[in-house]
Amino acid sequence: MSARKVLVLGGTAEAAALAARLLERAGDRIDLVSSFAGRVEGLRPPPGRIRIGGFGGADGLAAYIRDEAIDLLVDSTHPFADRMSRNAREAADLTGVPRLLFWRPPWPRHPLDRWIEVDGIDAAAHALRHLGRRVWLTVGGTELAPFAALADRWFLVRVIDAARTPPPLADCTVIEGRGPFTLENERALLRYHRIEVVVSKASGGAATYAKIEAAREADLPVVMVRRPLPEPGDRVESIDDAVAWVTARL
Ligand SMILES: NC(=O)c1ccc[n+]([C@@H]2O[C@H](COP(=O)([O-])OP(=O)(O)OC[C@H]3O[C@@H](n4cnc5c(N)ncnc54)[C@H](OP(=O)(O)O)[C@@H]3O)[C@@H](O)[C@H]2O)c1
Repeated sequence: MSARKVLVLGGTAEAAALAARLLERAGDRIDLVSSFAGRVEGLRPPPGRIRIGGFGGADGLAAYIRDEAIDLLVDSTHPFADRMSRNAREAADLTGVPRLLFWRPPWPRHPLDRWIEVDGIDAAAHALRHLGRRVWLTVGGTELAPFAALADRWFLVRVIDAARTPPPLADCTVIEGRGPFTLENERALLRYHRIEVVVSKASGGAATYAKIEAAREADLPVVMVRRPLPEPGDRVESIDDAVAWVTARL
């Protein structure tokens, strides 16, 4: 029997780990393609084939699935990449290709966490009006505009590629960093920059959890942007379960 074509929509550490595990377990039965939006320089390519760039909406993805004769679709994008996830669901509906959503588990809230949970980046900027003056923004580089109105604040902005994302903020320091981050690193950063409040997306995942622990230790408030709702359909929260879903369909 010929290999089954599996398309993994990636851009996360979990997608790369899943690609590696699938090829390790069933490499002789899978022709695997990992897809990336192409927003990040210096991509660390996972094993298997890769493709880079948008598909052109749900219709474009459906056309790709048909043209490439994709058998299985695994959406392992970031929990905040909701446009891509919606496109994946619509494209799967259009083509009849089975789709799995890998839904990275959210971080559990510790009793000592001082989270202010909000819906959306605009609400996060609004919440900051009542909080500290030295703000660490860890929401990526593309969603900083709502914070520009807070002209009396100083911001620390950590992005993967500083050259790509000059921030629209009057008073800020930009640092580059790519996870995973250690607790020691995040503690030192909070101390060195005298951070008073942290803004984070409720991304989940181990690679960026240390900042949440460091903020808890330092008794700092964290403005936590809630996740968008997941797309309906088959969903797993672990790489083992994602591997089982794929291998059951080979
Ligand atoms: N949002 C975050 O906080 C975050 C954090 C870490 C990593 N990421 C990763 O960065 C990428 C972009 O995130 P986003 O929030 O901008 O996504 P998004 O708003 O959901 O997607 C915007 C557009 O980017 C293209 N795209 C996204 N992921 C793609 C993929 N894996 N392969 C091919 N095209 C893709 C699609 O273009 P077309 O409509 O033209 O197909 C999509 O409509 C995602 O792959 C995500 O996993 C996002």
